[in-house]
Amino acid sequence: MNSDTPNHPTNHLNTESQLSNSQGNNRILFATGNVNKLIEVRKVLAHLPYEIISLKDLGIDYDIPETGDTLEENATIKSKFLAERYPDYHIISEDTGLEIDALDGAPGVITARYGGPERDAQQNMNKVLSELSDKEDRSGQFRTIISHIYQGVETQHQGIVRGKIALEQSGNDGFGYDPIFIPEGYEDSFADLGDEVKRSMSHRSRAVAKLVESLGGDL
Ligand code: IMP
Repeated sequence: MNSDTPNHPTNHLNTESQLSNSQGNNRILFATGNVNKLIEVRKVLAHLPYEIISLKDLGIDYDIPETGDTLEENATIKSKFLAERYPDYHIISEDTGLEIDALDGAPGVITARYGGPERDAQQNMNKVLSELSDKEDRSGQFRTIISHIYQGVETQHQGIVRGKIALEQSGNDGFGYDPIFIPEGYEDSFADLGDEVKRSMSHRSRAVAKLVESLGGDL
């Protein structure tokens, strides 16, 4: 671990060959094509001397198929994809689901395509609001599973934020279901509350914090 290496979150590598030639393992390869997740995780880890490299940085411009039946399986599928190609690096991936109590935990593992195969955020939110229109209980949670693989060993870390589904969408920040999710202790949606508040308590931040803790505060 090279703790002297500064973190340059925006100054990342552009080609696979640059990465392959590098000796340092202060690079964490993040098996995601989701730029919003990338930005969030980069900010959560900004105080540590790591550079987070995404699929796009590696020249991989397709989504790794999420064929698992659970968030845990999907997280593993994604991290293994990169671990097989870059065995010397820290690999992380994550899978997130919105789990609504009155819908028996749905949409859960199909959160990304709940409203249809287009994986459209607006359609997804419309479907949730419509499914809950006759329900009194609007409570639920976001649950994130992070898979970390280093030197062939995988660990998983879970982060949960409880809350409720709003009656209607509100706010412009964030992504996905943020405009309809009100975290516990607040009256406004994640999209109203903004990035900093979300980052201080989100499912993803909590899972990342557990990952860092499990590795002794260091990767
Ligand atoms: P996946 O983890 O990329 O499969 O994403 C699952 C679905 O949850 C997608 O529709 C995302 O937009 C949504 N999602 C993931 N994380 C968040 C979040 O932090 N806020 C709101 N929606 C999210």
